[in-house]
Amino acid sequence: MEFGIKVTSPDKQRGSCIVVGVFEPKKMTAAAKELDNLSGGYIKDIVSQGDLEGRANTTLLLHKVPNVQSKRVLLIGLGKEEEFKDSVFVSTVQTVFRTLHSTGIADCALFLADLPLENRDIAWKVTQIAKLAVESNYRFDQLKSKPEDNKKSLRKITIGISNSQDLTTGETALSQGAAIAHGMSLTKDLGNLAPNICTPSYLAEEAKELAKTYKLKATILDKKEMEKQKMGALLAVARGSHQPPKLIALEYQGAGKKDKPVVLVGKGVTFDTGGISLKPAAEMDEMKFDMSGAASVLGTIKAIAEMNLPVNVVGIIPATENMPGGSATKPGDVVTSMSGQTIEVLNTDAEGRLILCDALTYAERYDPEIVIDIATLTGACVIALGNIATGLMSNDDALAQEVIKAGEQAADRVWQLPLWDDYQELLKSNFADMANIGGRAGGTITAACFLSRFTKKFRWAHLDIAGTAWKSGKEKGSTGRPVPLLTQFLINRAAAAKA
Ligand code: BES
Ligand code: MN
Ligand code: ZN
Repeated sequence: MEFGIKVTSPDKQRGSCIVVGVFEPKKMTAAAKELDNLSGGYIKDIVSQGDLEGRANTTLLLHKVPNVQSKRVLLIGLGKEEEFKDSVFVSTVQTVFRTLHSTGIADCALFLADLPLENRDIAWKVTQIAKLAVESNYRFDQLKSKPEDNKKSLRKITIGISNSQDLTTGETALSQGAAIAHGMSLTKDLGNLAPNICTPSYLAEEAKELAKTYKLKATILDKKEMEKQKMGALLAVARGSHQPPKLIALEYQGAGKKDKPVVLVGKGVTFDTGGISLKPAAEMDEMKFDMSGAASVLGTIKAIAEMNLPVNVVGIIPATENMPGGSATKPGDVVTSMSGQTIEVLNTDAEGRLILCDALTYAERYDPEIVIDIATLTGACVIALGNIATGLMSNDDALAQEVIKAGEQAADRVWQLPLWDDYQELLKSNFADMANIGGRAGGTITAACFLSRFTKKFRWAHLDIAGTAWKSGKEKGSTGRPVPLLTQFLINRAAAAKA
């Protein structure tokens, strides 16, 4: 897709389609009025006759509007002006792209970025438009023998704005939105791929591919090297599988060598059967998405590399399957993590924390400024927050606030849960330094408590994306979250470092 942003007005457009908004009831936006003036009241007539009242997400496609050079005008209902907020903006932009895709139009000029939204500037709206445009174009049909017959033809999108002062920030916002969306597409592809294809080795190859494209440094540790590093917890999870585990480190250097990196650690369980503590059969296929944290790390690095963001970032991905098997880890086994702490594995289905704890210890070697781990860690998080908010826990309140703010900005929100010491005792084991589960109560928090025992040396935030990384049911598929949040977090850091 090709994007442009221009200081212009709708009456000057010549392309295939102009998109302007109408508020409810029958209230034309400034851009719609300009077109209407040109057409000699043609649009106003249609609107006042009630063909488009302005209800949110209703559309009307007009052809051959008098005096308008562009072939078509798409009117989009925006709902009541006083109720026009973020979510309405997003859903109406989605409706616009869905409508355009269904018509076979190749190019369009959008006049929606000037619409007033509380607490949102032009840059935000432009970023969202670019992101939603690419998202609307996303398809995953690489595993179908014939591509599906839903060809999308929209190629070129021009965003019209009225104020020349907004142009420079608008241009940056546009390329950032596109980069975020490209990162999300990669994350979605990796998540959606079948688990017999997207194995730990596949993720490692993908990291190498990114390294080649963007001149990054990729280091892949294989099982022998993990043994040398004494990653006993990660290796314990990999034992039941025939697929060799990989520990991937991908380094992006956008700032000076001396700048400490932000380290992103992503859970990369390419399939989670539960191991010997086997999961029930229903919906087990969805456990192919258990590498969504890893996929979001790769997607975020792609996004920031595409925008040449001046920050240093290291992605670390412990990648393995969690399978039952003759040599699989058993409930009751005690393993020694890379940190030296011992763990009694009471449930082999609590494997995410086992691979993450060694990856977090491994992160120390990069002398991180901050570490954020991203993981589809607990079903309990889905119960607590549903599919709307990602769970956030942190050992540093300022960092937590930074993450919350980035989530608000990116429309990819998180909700913080407590990480109080009171919860730690639930992890007591009679036989090792700790158990890998804390019982049913507060499952999301005790999982984070477990990780906190491996993050004492740095400021750390934990994102539980179990509810937000993918959708189930008819729309089953990866969401690409939390790439927008992570990228925004890094954009903010880069801006703060410059200031
Ligand atoms: N990958 C799962 C978490 C999960 C489950 C995410 C369902 C999304 C939907 C994780 O490895 C897991 O199995 N966690 C267990 C932990 C329990 C054994 C303490 C869970 O949440 O049931
Ligand atoms: Mn599990
Ligand atoms: Zn898992």
